[in-house]
Amino acid sequence: MISKINKIKEQALADIKTVKDKPSLEIVWQKYLGRREGQLTKILREIKNLPVSERPMIGSLSNNALQEINKRINEAKSKLYSSKKIESTSQTDITLPGEKIELGHLHPLTQMRFKVAEIFASLGFKIIDGNELETEYYNFEALNIPDGHPARDMWDTFFVDSPLSPLLKSKKRKYKLLLRTHTSPMQIRVMEKEEPPLRVCAIGRCFRNEATDASHEHTLYQIEGFCVDKEISVANLIYTLRSFLRLLFEKEVKVRLRPNYFPFTEPSFEMDFSCLNCQGKGCPVCKQTGWVEMLGCGMIHPKVYEAVGYSPGQYSGFAFGIGLDRLVMMKDQIDDIRWLHSGDLRFIKQF
Ligand code: FA5
Repeated sequence: MISKINKIKEQALADIKTVKDKPSLEIVWQKYLGRREGQLTKILREIKNLPVSERPMIGSLSNNALQEINKRINEAKSKLYSSKKIESTSQTDITLPGEKIELGHLHPLTQMRFKVAEIFASLGFKIIDGNELETEYYNFEALNIPDGHPARDMWDTFFVDSPLSPLLKSKKRKYKLLLRTHTSPMQIRVMEKEEPPLRVCAIGRCFRNEATDASHEHTLYQIEGFCVDKEISVANLIYTLRSFLRLLFEKEVKVRLRPNYFPFTEPSFEMDFSCLNCQGKGCPVCKQTGWVEMLGCGMIHPKVYEAVGYSPGQYSGFAFGIGLDRLVMMKDQIDDIRWLHSGDLRFIKQF
């Protein structure tokens, strides 16, 4: 019996030494101290059957073995627990940089919009936005483009089929609703309410039912600027546009002014940029011409003053409409306008 107890103890302590994880420690515990099948438990259970003279000695030996095995199992347990802790802390390298939280930023069109607003505000213009859903009256008729006028073909229009077409009391008729094709209706809306001197800049989204290509989108942003006062001339228009471009590009930009036709300005011009995408050599953005059409402008037509109720000959003024998307394209050398609305994060993240 004595040698059996010593053997169990020795084997148990040896087994405990080889234990590497908690499940195998549990197995060792079951093997020697388990309630039913534990080898030492069985011995302890048999003590009561031994002759009385042997009981104290065997009892004390078994108890010592029990205490020793228990002690080693507890030691192994705490070793396993603390080594687990060391393992887990050793996996945390506190010198590594933290996980980066991705921050968004303003879209390049919005950045340009804010920059443009800041520049025109510094030139004394009041900054406004306006209705994206317009009436035929403000988008066309009041701008000297009556129903059936061929100039309406210059703007491929999305008409909105709506039973809510507004009745313009002043005109005593209903006008169709449409998505504004340009920001010029804001000239009428402002002049109807306010008297000159006026220096206003309206920035916003416009819509055209046209096929897209590298420089045309169906949804585009425009900057409408106009100034109405006494003795305003083409010189004031050109000076304002040149100042704006110099402030925006922080250098002189090569531009050309050519005569054009708009029903709501007379004379009318168009201003082109030397294409910054190809340095004027020719590419899909400038349709191989070396020039990109950037804006339409001119002196406000007398018919526009008439539409808003100003007395004939009382005021003069200029107006211009700049393509905001094209400004972004030139400033950041983007080779296709469609990138701007693509929602492609690989593109957006570059700004
Ligand atoms: C107009 O829209 C006139 N309302 C501009 C104007 C205002 C003239 C005041 C006179 C006085 P136009 O259709 O040319 O004009 O457009 C003006 C500018 O908007 C263009 O020069 C171009 O930069 C931009 N643009 C026009 N169509 C598109 C398009 N589909 N995609 C992107 N930009 C466009």
